[in-house]
Amino acid sequence: MKNDIAGLVRPVLRDLVPYHVPVHTGVVKLDANENPYDFPPELLTGIFERVDGQTFVRYPDAEARELREAIAAYTGLSAENVFVGNGSDELILNLFLTFAVGGRVLIATPTFGMYRIHTVIAGAEPVAVNRDPDFAVDPERLLQAAQEVPAKVMVLCSPNNPSGNTIPPETVEQVLTGFDGIVVLDEAYFEFCGKSSVSLLGRYPNLVVLRTFSKAFGLAGLRVGYMLAHPDVIDAVWRVKQPFNVDAFAQLAARTVLENRSLFAPQIEVLMRDGAALYERLRLLPGVEAYPTEANYVLFWTPLDAQTVYQGLLARGVLIRDLGGPGLERCLRVSFGRPEENTKFLESLEEVLGSGLSF
Ligand SMILES: Cc1ncc(COP(=O)(O)O)c(C=O)c1O
Repeated sequence: MKNDIAGLVRPVLRDLVPYHVPVHTGVVKLDANENPYDFPPELLTGIFERVDGQTFVRYPDAEARELREAIAAYTGLSAENVFVGNGSDELILNLFLTFAVGGRVLIATPTFGMYRIHTVIAGAEPVAVNRDPDFAVDPERLLQAAQEVPAKVMVLCSPNNPSGNTIPPETVEQVLTGFDGIVVLDEAYFEFCGKSSVSLLGRYPNLVVLRTFSKAFGLAGLRVGYMLAHPDVIDAVWRVKQPFNVDAFAQLAARTVLENRSLFAPQIEVLMRDGAALYERLRLLPGVEAYPTEANYVLFWTPLDAQTVYQGLLARGVLIRDLGGPGLERCLRVSFGRPEENTKFLESLEEVLGSGLSF
């Protein structure tokens, strides 16, 4: 048949569900692990003061030199170890396009869903390697899987989304020692826990650390992520990079954020302190199991179907994430919010569980 568009689509894409994010206005938004506080007004003014008549009309610096210098200073590395992307999402895809096409990607699961999706988009095969029941990574199991199903890339996430636990650097090192491929370690939530394996970069050229400005630094709307790696890895990924992947305004904003990062420390401290209180109250709700977390969100289990809880909360004006799926049955994830948002969530959840458990 002429113009059979569906028939023209690459077969591996046919089963992929397009990433549509429903928009719910006027709700308490605790579904995406963003920074819930307003962007510091003095920083906003500072960013706009640096914008001039040429900022928008010219193409941005394709190499993002000043931003990469600022990231290098922040991470204690050099600019040649830094590559920036349109969110770390873009970097995940670029890494797979560089190293994984036609091969396999081992993913320590359950974890952030975009690893699997980008693997499929890149024409590679995702292979899930289960984490322990407490979501810890078992290095031996990963290395065993790498023996059985040879792969060029392995993906770890610390703190893990959605479980919130970190991977000790010793575990990461054990994996690096036994695996010759690229080990992607996603540290999107690093600023909330301060725990990192970046120091291993000097000894392991196959390690790639991913970070983002979308979470602690409050720039989710501007899309800036970065990758820290050996220059050989950076040079390889450069080959698949879109020429102007990070726009001029985003480069400027991210640079300004890093130069003024001390402004975010009190926000993060308050968010994590209130989050710890939320975790305690959640843990004590009858029937609820909350998993210990080192990030700005918490995974929890209830006796009800996750979709029932999700919808019950939404009906009460609270948006969280339903994760109920393989390995996470009856689980949901709530981001830490402002105190009044946390309270609204807890009260709504109590109502939902109360009504749901009564029959
Ligand atoms: C673990 C992890 N990595 C990457 C991302 C994507 O971040 P970005 O906004 O930089 O694309 C997220 C966002 O939720 C995440 O949870």
